[in-house]
Amino acid sequence: MRNVPVYYAPMEGITTAGFRGVIHGMYPEPDAYYAPFIQPNLKKVLTAKEKKELLPEYNQGFMLVPQVLTDAPEEFVRACHALFSYGYKEVNLNLGCPSGTVVSKGKGAGMLRDPEALDRFLDGAFSKVEGGDVSLKVRLGLTEEDDPMEYVRIYGKYPVKKLMIHPRFRSDLYEGKPRLEWYLRMAEYLRQFDTELCFNGDMTTAEEIDQLLDEHGELIDSIMIGRGLLTNPALVRTWRGGEELRLEELRDLEGKMREMYLAKGLGEANTICKMKELWVYWGRNFPEKEKAKKDLFKAKRMAEYLAATAVIFSFDKGY
Ligand SMILES: Cc1cc2nc3c(=O)[nH]c(=O)nc-3n(C[C@H](O)[C@H](O)[C@H](O)COP(=O)(O)O)c2cc1C
Repeated sequence: MRNVPVYYAPMEGITTAGFRGVIHGMYPEPDAYYAPFIQPNLKKVLTAKEKKELLPEYNQGFMLVPQVLTDAPEEFVRACHALFSYGYKEVNLNLGCPSGTVVSKGKGAGMLRDPEALDRFLDGAFSKVEGGDVSLKVRLGLTEEDDPMEYVRIYGKYPVKKLMIHPRFRSDLYEGKPRLEWYLRMAEYLRQFDTELCFNGDMTTAEEIDQLLDEHGELIDSIMIGRGLLTNPALVRTWRGGEELRLEELRDLEGKMREMYLAKGLGEANTICKMKELWVYWGRNFPEKEKAKKDLFKAKRMAEYLAATAVIFSFDKGY
C-alpha cells in the first residue's frame, strides 16, 4: 500500500465547521479539510455567518483550507490576503462547481468557458497574491468538446501549489465514471512543474484506493475524497490498515451530529433536514433497510426521525 495525503473534499451545506469538529473528533485521519466555497466581494470577504464557519477558532485541531469562488482577480487577491491574515497558509480556487446559477455567471466550472479569460484571471491573481499558497480545484472543461490540455498548459504557467483534478466535464455533473485517462494525460504534462497533483472522484473503498495508487501512483501525489468519506467515515482509517467501520460507531456519530446541530440552535425541523442530508450517504450502508429509510426521509418530527433511525441501527450483524 502506498500512503499519500488524503484531503476531505468540500461539500456545501454538509461539511460545515460543526460537522468537521464532530468528524475529526472520531476520525482524525484526513490530512486536511477543504471548506465549501465562499463568495467574497470587494466590500466584504467574510460575512458574520461565514466567520463562524471559517475562523481558526471554530476549526481547532485540524488543517483547514478555505475555498473561494469568484471570477474577479482583485476579489480573489483580497480574499487570499484576508484569509492568510487569519493564519491560513493556503487558499483554494473553485474552478469546478457545475451548478447552473454559478456557471451562467462564468464562475466555478464556468471559468473554463474561455481559456484566454482564465489565463488573464490567473495572471491577475498570481501576480498579486503574497504570503501564502494558492491551489486550484478543477474539472476537465465544460463539455467533451473542450480540450483539457489547453487548460493544463495555462495552469502550468503559474506557481500552483496543488491541483485537485475531478476528471469530469461540467456536462457530466457527477454521472458516469471519472475520466481517469484525462487525469493521467494532464498529470503527465504537469509532472514537470512543482505542483502537487491530487486525484478526486468516486473513491469509496480501500481496495479502490489501493488499486488506483498501485497502477498510477507516480502521477498521484495526494487524493481528495468527498462522498466516499460521508458514506464510510472510517474509510481512510481502514485504508491505512486500521479497523473497518463498525455499526456502533455510526450510531455514535449520528447522535453526536444531531446533538451538535441542536446545540447550535438549529431547532428540531432544521436539524432533521441536516440529518437527512447525511442519511443520503449513511443510508448506503443499509441496503436492506429500505422501509425504515423511507420513513426516515418522511419524518417531520424528532420522534418519527428517532424511531426510524432506531430501526435502521437495530440489526444484529456488524458489517
Ligand atoms: C453536496 C455536494 C456539495 C459540494 N460542494 C462543493 C464545494 O463547495 N466546492 C467544491 O469545490 N466542490 C464541491 N463539491 C464537489 C466535491 O468536493 C467533490 O469534488 C465531488 O463530490 C467528487 O468527489 P467524490 O466522488 O469523492 O465525492 C460538492 C459535492 C457535493 C456532492
